Order: sequence, then structure tokens, then C-alpha cells
Amino acid sequence: MSNESQEELRAHWDERYRSGQTPWDTGITPPEVQAFWEEQPPPAAGAYALDIGCGTGLNTLFLARLGLCAIGFDLSGQALRLAQMRLKARGRQDRHRPGGKAVFVQADVSRLPVDGLGAAYALDIGCLHSLPDQLRPAYAEGVHRGLKSGGYFHLYVFDRNDSDGPGARGMYEGEAAALFEGKLEIVSEVAGVSSNSVSRPSRWILLRKNR
Ligand SMILES: C[S@@+](CC[C@H](N)C(=O)[O-])C[C@H]1O[C@@H](n2cnc3c(N)ncnc32)[C@H](O)[C@@H]1O
Repeated sequence: MSNESQEELRAHWDERYRSGQTPWDTGITPPEVQAFWEEQPPPAAGAYALDIGCGTGLNTLFLARLGLCAIGFDLSGQALRLAQMRLKARGRQDRHRPGGKAVFVQADVSRLPVDGLGAAYALDIGCLHSLPDQLRPAYAEGVHRGLKSGGYFHLYVFDRNDSDGPGARGMYEGEAAALFEGKLEIVSEVAGVSSNSVSRPSRWILLRKNR
């Protein structure tokens, strides 16, 4: 991505957070994510989880409470300031399972600094579907590099609507399968239930890195 377009994207997201136009910031970890973890055995000590496009970090902290070493990535400095405040405010009252911790990293998700992490789980709620088309293959490479074999990738996307701007372009049906072909396989795909005021057709897609 050129520096200029990265600047434009960052300014767009910073402004959303600064002005409070963040309908996705519901304060509730989606039931789909909670249900996934209820069905999993407790994570291994030191296991990594990635929250890609973490925003204000609610779900990064949820993953840390499970005992994961959760890393939230976001381009927006404003979002990460709010995430750090949330971490500070919640840190003392949260009971993490042993090993659980949350850290936040400012990074462009089309150049994820995840080499060698071997994460057990990656989560993306509403980030990939906002990326310009030309950045999506590099994003998919990053997820593939960041996960261990057999690691899961949990993705929430709006259906594609080309009239939308940078906030939520969405993804075509079949686009995730094509984007991750040869890297990750789709385990399940279900219709999403909108948890905020912006009601729009959406999907939860669970993928797994090939062994
Ligand atoms: C719809 S918000 C969702 C935030 C969070 N996942 C949640 O559920 O609260 C999308 C997030 O993706 C981030 N984002 C968008 N493009 C990005 C990029 N190229 N690199 C890193 N983060 C990006 C935005 O700053 C924003 O925080």
C-alpha cells in the first residue's frame, strides 16, 4: 500500500473513533466467538491469538481472559489508545487464566508482523471486509503466516455492497474460499445476526489452516 493511501485509511478510522461513529463497538463479544471457545479445550499455555483489526480491544481482552496471549492489531492510533485505556481499566478486575495477556500493536493488516508466532486462533470482526480489494491477498498471506498448522481463523463479514465506502465494502459469496485457497479451508459458514443498529446481511466463516 502506498503511504498516502495508508494515511487516508488511518485518517478515516481515526475519525470514526474520535467522533464516536462506531456502531460495531457494542461492548459484547459476539455469541459466535463465545460459543466457539466453549467447545474448545482450554488453550495450551503460551498459545497465541490474533485479533486482526482489534478496534478498542474488547475481544482481545476476551481472548486474554481465556488464557491466550492475545495480540490486537489495528491501523488506528485512536482505536489503540482506547484499547490501552480499556486494558488499564479492566486489567485489575479481569481474572485471566494463567498465561493470559493482551498486547496491542499498531500495524497495517496487509503487512501483519506475525512471522513465527504460530497462533492457535485468529479473529477478524469487520476488518477484512473493509479492505480495498488489492490488499486482500496480502492480508490472506499474513493470516496464513501467523497461524500454526491446524489453527483456526474466525471471520465476520458483511455481504458485499459496492455502493459502500471504506467502512464496509463486504465480501462476495465464495470470496473467502477463493482468497484462502491452498492456505486455509472453510470449516463452517453461517448467516450472522447483526448485533448493532446497522442491520445488514452478514456471515460468520470459520476456517482452519491446512495441516
Ligand atoms: C468495523 S471495525 C471493527 C473493530 C473490532 N474488530 C470490533 O469488532 O470492535 C474495523 C477495524 O479495522 C481496522 N482497520 C481497517 N483497515 C485496517 C488496516 N489496513 N490495518 C489495520 N487495521 C485496519 C479499523 O481501524 C477498525 O478498528
